[in-house]
Amino acid sequence: MNFNQSNIKKAKKYLNKNYCIGVPTETVYGLAANAYSNIAVKRIFKLKNRPTNNPLIVHYLSIDELKKDCVINNNFIELYKKFSPGPITYILKLKKDSKISKFVTNKKKNLAVRFPNHKILKNLLKELKYPLAAPSANISNRLSSVEASDVREEFGSKIKYILNGGKCSIGLESTIINLTNKPTILRLGGIDISKIRKILNTKIFIKINSRKKIAPGQSHLHYSPGIPLKMNIRKPQKDAAFVLIKKRKKDLKNFYYLSKKNNLNEAAKNLYSCLRKIKNKGYKSIAIEKIPNKGLGKAINDKLSRASKY
Ligand code: TXA
Ligand code: MG
Repeated sequence: MNFNQSNIKKAKKYLNKNYCIGVPTETVYGLAANAYSNIAVKRIFKLKNRPTNNPLIVHYLSIDELKKDCVINNNFIELYKKFSPGPITYILKLKKDSKISKFVTNKKKNLAVRFPNHKILKNLLKELKYPLAAPSANISNRLSSVEASDVREEFGSKIKYILNGGKCSIGLESTIINLTNKPTILRLGGIDISKIRKILNTKIFIKINSRKKIAPGQSHLHYSPGIPLKMNIRKPQKDAAFVLIKKRKKDLKNFYYLSKKNNLNEAAKNLYSCLRKIKNKGYKSIAIEKIPNKGLGKAINDKLSRASKY
């Protein structure tokens, strides 16, 4: 964690020159660039090898700045009051006179927005005259980054700078909710849907497996460690890495723990780094024991089931 004003200044210098940099958030690291600049936004897509029709999330410091670019509504205000800044992304209508680069949304009229809750990133945003477009800092379809070193592993010297904010405290991407129409969840993530339900006094639709792939994060290829992965395993094959949700008395070399005592928040935080470690050790496959399907466990299972389709 190297938080000081000179690092923020450096980050700002690169962003002002339309470069992409790695930034920490409480969910996962982002590959950030000026959301108002066509040049900067195009660079994000190129670096990630991301299809240009897969829109980006734009990160704001406050609702006042957001209002310049998007039309807000009551559902948004209720959720914002409760969960932002935090791991939730809202889809809103773009204003006609918004300055957001058309490449962010592939010329579509809806924008995904988020208010990140990470001290360093908030300090950076305070210094900028524009919001930051930032997808997760990984090459498309690979594991997301939860530490500065993961971002370096993904992009090497192709990016100029990474703002190191330590390990992400949540470790899973934000929950995405479309608020342009009837509230619809598009991606499971850092905030459990049951909590969202309690705030909105209306039915919430869930479309996390839409065929139309409204959010390409719904694609099966996502979150893949690049080797076969199997879920709900009791006895793994001998040469597989075995991922467990709580510590065992009998500890074997191929055992990897997501948490000490079955804690799903801790497991979420460790998930991506655990899979990355296993991949880097050279294992040919991963077996994962059954993970309780409640709270953040639902988001974990959703990511794993997509990764298992690899
Ligand atoms: O936690 C997060 O959300 C992280 C951090 C860095 O903020 N960001 C992140 O971005 O996960 P990304 O690009 O990896 O995933 C964003 C997802 C994509 O699946 C994209 O298709 C969807 O959001 N998305 C973006 N804009 C959208 C829009 N206008 N309508 C529907 N889906 C959208
Ligand atoms: Mg991503």
